[in-house]
Amino acid sequence: MSILIKNIKRLLVVQEGNSTPLRGSALSELNSIDNAFVYIKDGVIEDYGVMSEMPLLSDNQEVEVIDADGRMVMPAYCDSHTHIVYSGSREMEYMDKIRGLSYQEIAARGGGILNSVDLLHNTSEDELYRQAMVRVDEMIRFGTGAIEVKSGYGLSVEDEVKMLRVARRIGDSSDVTVRTTFLGAHAYPRRYLENKSKYVDEIIKEMIPVIQSEGLADYIDVFCEQGFFSVEDSERILRAGIDAGMIPTIHANQMSKSGGVELGVKLGASSVCHLEFTDESHYKLLGESETIATMLPGSTFFLKMNYPNVREMIDKNVAVALATNYNPGSSPSGDMKFMMALSCLYLNMKPEEVINASTINGAYAMGVAHKLGSITKGKVANLIITKPIPTYEFIPYSFSTPLVEKTVLKGKIYG
Ligand code: NIG
Repeated sequence: MSILIKNIKRLLVVQEGNSTPLRGSALSELNSIDNAFVYIKDGVIEDYGVMSEMPLLSDNQEVEVIDADGRMVMPAYCDSHTHIVYSGSREMEYMDKIRGLSYQEIAARGGGILNSVDLLHNTSEDELYRQAMVRVDEMIRFGTGAIEVKSGYGLSVEDEVKMLRVARRIGDSSDVTVRTTFLGAHAYPRRYLENKSKYVDEIIKEMIPVIQSEGLADYIDVFCEQGFFSVEDSERILRAGIDAGMIPTIHANQMSKSGGVELGVKLGASSVCHLEFTDESHYKLLGESETIATMLPGSTFFLKMNYPNVREMIDKNVAVALATNYNPGSSPSGDMKFMMALSCLYLNMKPEEVINASTINGAYAMGVAHKLGSITKGKVANLIITKPIPTYEFIPYSFSTPLVEKTVLKGKIYG
């Protein structure tokens, strides 16, 4: 089955011949074609261009024609940092937050991540999958086509494996592209609160081998933070994951200058995520590395923290991606458009930059840029067809209006 989308007001994030994340001034170059068409064949972008060059269809060709008059088309979002496999919700902690408790104070009282760990332990794999798919379906409606999914609410061999199996099942059973990440080092489980190094040993000696043998994780991640995992333990865990064939990524500098950025760059992490507590030295280090800085403004907003200086990062040549960090504790949202709006207003990013950071740079951060993230011949047809909009700046500007009319995933139309 083929699809021809014609009369596109503006086709965004068009790329041919580029094979690296966008950084520096290139991040604000939004390659686009006015009055365009896209031709999709067998789920792949076969052709695109200006309307005057649109191929003529023969009568016997089976093609679904979509007239996109007044609408824009862009790549579906690549959400490169999420925790969408979890059970239930944590709105009671939201009440604690409103009363003034910080994320760390809630965690120190035994709440936070450990609440989700208890809930997940008592939830079957099928039910966990069902709950996660509700989130995935909503994300597709928001225009997301690729999702990185972390474990980290299991904290035991059995429950970490359960989470990662669910994550793999989402990718196998839906049109969303999923990349999985083992985050056993998300918190210390209650049984090891008095003997934390024993848990690090369990991650390395018991969890990683099982996860490796079942081929459940593409990435290895650690929450490198004061009160969570030290730089030394983070390095041991990340190296064990690398030895097992996983790509390193790291939660870094979310609550303090934790040393996570330095460690991530040293180990060649695909991305370092959060970065609220960073300065010139971190921007220099990242700007000279291949590691992507993944900004998660949803949690900075939800935890009422200070936003990182992303303007400075971009000026220092850091490759920046945007993601939702969808999770029950610090960012209960899978809405990439809202993240773009926050990024324009509070990270001082330009609309062009947030669109590139949510599509092609997100694709690089999650290792799918060879097939997703831009309008490129031969890439998978993962697209957003917007509602009629005046300009692309309107997308982050109208921060709460749903603007996705259809999401196309692997050539299948949703909406
Ligand atoms: O990225 N920082 C660690 N993990 C999540 C929060 C997870 C939770 O609170 O459930 C984050 O913010």
